[in-house]
Amino acid sequence: MDQFVINGGRRLTGCVSVSGAKNAGLPVMAAAALCDDVCIIDNLPYVKDIIIMADLLRYMGAEVSLSPNGRAVINPRGLKNVIPPEDMVAKMRASTYLMGILLGRFNEACVPPPGGCSIGARPIDQHLRGFEALGARVEEGAFLTLRASKLVGSNVYLEASVGATINIILAAVKAEGVTVIHGCAKEPHVVDVANFLNNMGASIRGAGTDTIRIRGVQTLRSTSYTIIPDQIETGTWMIMAAATKGDIVIENCIPPHMEVVSAKLRKTGAEVIEGDDFLRVRASGRLNATNIRTMVYPGFPTDLQQPMSAMLTCANGRSIITETIYEQRYRHLEEMRRMGAKVQVEDRVAFVDGVERLYGRTVEASDLRAGAALIVAGLMAEGTTTISGVKYIDRGYERIEDKLTSVGADIKRI
Ligand code: EPZ
Repeated sequence: MDQFVINGGRRLTGCVSVSGAKNAGLPVMAAAALCDDVCIIDNLPYVKDIIIMADLLRYMGAEVSLSPNGRAVINPRGLKNVIPPEDMVAKMRASTYLMGILLGRFNEACVPPPGGCSIGARPIDQHLRGFEALGARVEEGAFLTLRASKLVGSNVYLEASVGATINIILAAVKAEGVTVIHGCAKEPHVVDVANFLNNMGASIRGAGTDTIRIRGVQTLRSTSYTIIPDQIETGTWMIMAAATKGDIVIENCIPPHMEVVSAKLRKTGAEVIEGDDFLRVRASGRLNATNIRTMVYPGFPTDLQQPMSAMLTCANGRSIITETIYEQRYRHLEEMRRMGAKVQVEDRVAFVDGVERLYGRTVEASDLRAGAALIVAGLMAEGTTTISGVKYIDRGYERIEDKLTSVGADIKRI
């Protein structure tokens, strides 16, 4: 079991380059299985979840080569309608996309329940309602079985779920007629999946707005596609720069995706400079407290609430954090209490009273972004912090210890 050992108290300075977006790469790889030919996908982060998706597609008969430089070549001609293995599906949330692609390709899917980070209830009722609207019958048991004689475009009503929006797109892209999805998630990764499918010849309009309109097509052709930079990794670096009173140039990112995070960091007193494809974040002196309320895009992302609230434990004053998306995303703060953080959690609200300093301790990451938050804590703390649960961090951050070392952190994997 790997651990990170961090000697804190160092300013982070220099340049880091952001990897491709995990939460775009996963559904794009799945979407390649709907194609009738080979697709090349570049700028995939070489992280655990992406490797699992490649393994799942291989298990189902696709030929997939995935290289550490971020290129996947996917030939889905041999894809068969098999039940994916329970242990692999249980490893990540993105295995829900197998429902969309199997249904879209074979009009039938039988899948075990998906896994994913343990951050609260993660129902899939919206996905199932959407599939039903397209004509699928759903049977829920130990496995989920979806069957349609054929999929027919329809009106689908969602409540801004990222996964459900993408899954319905995957199922509808080759369905007969027109599907209109109302109440779509607008996250950049939803737009990336739609762009990839449109490059293959799909007809998807409106991605990035509340309403997406899909005209079903019969075939999808070979394409090459480059995944967008990771919005959450970008935000994590922004927070790490501010938290360590550092000065980091974050290269290969999309600054407009970060507007709400930039605005919040500026409120704390950090300076954020925007370029075309880079951000520079620097801070000096103690940061000010600020309030955070997580919202769907373009609001403050739940995935950055954890690193941000970790940073605010050392800010001047009281910050009130309201987590509206997942009810169990404060476990990092419970751990940080042992480092000296003053935190009170009441249901979905955390009251964080900033302290002068944190002290290095042994702490455990309970999920991916909790892991990122504890790294922020370790970087700020006086002394040595040992973080276990690194397997969660490896699911979503590519070479994080190498990148951290390159900007001056003292971090080792043991
Ligand atoms: C995606 O999860 C991301 N995962 C999550 O990132 C991210 O936290 C989340 O979107 C929100 O941005 C992937 O892309 C693989 P949702 P997803 O469906 O699609 C409720 C990370 O750290 N809901 O948008 O599962 C749900 O309970 C991970 O990288 C229903 O009620 O999230 C939640 O409260 C963690 N019924 C809200 O909607 C449904 O059928 C948003 O969930 C579906 C969702």
